[in-house]
Amino acid sequence: MSKGQALELLANKAVDAAELAAIAAFQLAGRGDKIAADQAAVDAMRKGLNAMAMQGRIVIGEGERDEAPMLYIGEEVGTGEGIGIDIALDPLEGTSLCAKALNNSLAVLALAPRGGLLHAPDTYMDKISCGPGLPKGVIDLDASPADNVKSIAKAKGVDPKDITVCVLDRERHEGIVASIRSVGARIVFIGDGDVAGVIMAADPDGGCDMYVGQGGAPEGVLGAAALRCLGGQMQTRLHFRNDDERERARRVGITDLDRKYDLTEMASEDCLFVAAGVTEGNLVHGVRHGDGFVETQTLLFSSVTGLRRKISTRRPT
Ligand code: FBP
Repeated sequence: MSKGQALELLANKAVDAAELAAIAAFQLAGRGDKIAADQAAVDAMRKGLNAMAMQGRIVIGEGERDEAPMLYIGEEVGTGEGIGIDIALDPLEGTSLCAKALNNSLAVLALAPRGGLLHAPDTYMDKISCGPGLPKGVIDLDASPADNVKSIAKAKGVDPKDITVCVLDRERHEGIVASIRSVGARIVFIGDGDVAGVIMAADPDGGCDMYVGQGGAPEGVLGAAALRCLGGQMQTRLHFRNDDERERARRVGITDLDRKYDLTEMASEDCLFVAAGVTEGNLVHGVRHGDGFVETQTLLFSSVTGLRRKISTRRPT
């Protein structure tokens, strides 16, 4: 059996793991406690992962071992049988969104054969991405956002004002926003959750042509895994605010701290990407309770088969 086939066999259980996390987090949606919501999602996702027939290892998780009792970087999960798998996860992506019952919180994970995902530290990352079907090199992290908008517009044969860019709503993005507006492009601001932002710029249902800005590095790797399946382009660079963050990068084996990463360096092997809706969202519905069941909606992307599934599941309660 090829590595890709072995990965595919894990898809259903990976969907279960994300959905269990989404259901657990949703119990705490709107209750103002993002830490409790995150913990509920972590506990549930861990249970789901441990039911999977794999030698799983967390490479992007809840943090380093001393700061995260569960799903820490390096933790081994799964039954211990089968293929060696590296896992990037965020059991509750958008903790504040969930705590405030705002749209677009997700339970997310990506799986790849050993060594297939960048071991990124928990620091910031500058990111730019776009969807499939555009000439290679159409975006460049080192060019201005305005020039990137113009380049995408030219490749799509439209005016820059017809381009829509997704940006995290943060003060630090003032310059980016001004640059995008200088060429008349539209901006869709998101309050949190830039894994969804990256997908929105690549999925035809997402309504955006480009994602740009600075967010978490772990979320950057998850976005790259999604894009490897969807077929877009992405460039990133780690951003450090102090020596402690630089040290975190060295601890996960990064030697060139200024390196510009391409999509295939962050997700270097075939992967599965799974995102279950917690609260209602642009890409998937949130968790819904009905008479005797709980319903979830989940995205399952595979770069092995190229399939993108949107799965609705009803579980008896
Ligand atoms: P959490 O799920 O940890 O709350 O992260 C949400 C998020 O919006 C990420 O999607 C994003 O990458 C990061 O936070 C941005 O960080 P900051 O809120 O510090 O700007």
